[in-house]
Amino acid sequence: MKAVRITDDIYWVGAIDWDLRNFHGYLTQRGSTYNSYLIIDEKVTLIDNVKSYMFSEQVERISSVIDPGKIDIIIQNHIEMDHSGSLPLIKQLCPNAEIYATAKGAEGLNRHFKKNWDIHEVKSGSTLSLGKRELTFVPTPMVHWPDNMVSYSAADKILFSNDAFGQHIASHERFDYEYAQGILEEEAAKYYANIVLPYGAQVVKALEAVGGLEIDWILPSHGLIWHDRIPRMIELYDKWSHNRTQEKALIIYDSMWGTTEIMAKMIHGVFEDSGIMAQLFNLRYTHISDIMTSILDARYICLGSPTLNNNILPTMASFLTYFKGLAPKKRIGLAFGSYGWGGQSIPILDSALEEMKFERLKAIKVKFIPDPEELTAAGEHLKKEIAAYK
Ligand code: FEO
Repeated sequence: MKAVRITDDIYWVGAIDWDLRNFHGYLTQRGSTYNSYLIIDEKVTLIDNVKSYMFSEQVERISSVIDPGKIDIIIQNHIEMDHSGSLPLIKQLCPNAEIYATAKGAEGLNRHFKKNWDIHEVKSGSTLSLGKRELTFVPTPMVHWPDNMVSYSAADKILFSNDAFGQHIASHERFDYEYAQGILEEEAAKYYANIVLPYGAQVVKALEAVGGLEIDWILPSHGLIWHDRIPRMIELYDKWSHNRTQEKALIIYDSMWGTTEIMAKMIHGVFEDSGIMAQLFNLRYTHISDIMTSILDARYICLGSPTLNNNILPTMASFLTYFKGLAPKKRIGLAFGSYGWGGQSIPILDSALEEMKFERLKAIKVKFIPDPEELTAAGEHLKKEIAAYK
């Protein structure tokens, strides 16, 4: 396995995880990569590492360019183990290499690996000369952990963005211009929705911090390298981080004996008749991480569950836990569901939407099986409420 040359003296030396199908709860049907970058300069520099079990692939790629023992500097933009796992093993090959990270990064690395490394702590705007080029560091806390930073080489117009702009794709191709644009954008959206979404305010700050830089290449820590589609990706990150949505409704539900499903289909029809794109997701059949991708630009989020043992169905409970953690903002919510006697599921869903600070449409609840007249009346009321928002 060989390194892949990106520009003069800069190489991709990462690892391709063809088998990865679950990244802490997020289905990664296309696998992923852990990207590591090698800069051959007066000081040989390695930027980010890979998962520990992929160390041998990383070393083989580095060795196709240079003896790993010649690495002088290791930049650790982020300490999560998909980017730092191989660090202790790499350090054994180049024991004199100096490590650079943010203060939180330095603390985390030593805590995690039970080391006492003397790590150089960088601050916003700190620079490091490698010889022909200089790296500038910009902390980007919470994109994705508190320790995150990006590194920038003005000489190469390259931004080493770590988790930002990543996608979980295992592929032979390394560059955006080699890969199908639609799939790449969808995977970038899925990655943002499932990893970055809670940190929109921090993404806005990070985009401001790098906004004035000349960037020809964005080298993320997962997936394809950005070159031809940088303006499009920046435009999408700007949209997603500001929670800008479109007239689109998601009806997410599970049903026990079919009544909540009847309601879900009625609600779907009302949105369609109102000229709003609508998507139905039965939680039994669609994974929550795929639903999150659709939520990214949806203005209306409708949640339906019948009442089970004074509560909601477990599929909806699982979805709600994940959904609340990812915390999309500026949405309009609707709770709905059927019940036999208690009817607690509907206020539980309505409260969850309120807790997320969504505007809310009037909740719809039905006892046992709805009469056609009941459904029609609920639909007519919903249609009027939607019209008021358009
Ligand atoms: Fe790809 Fe936050 O690690």
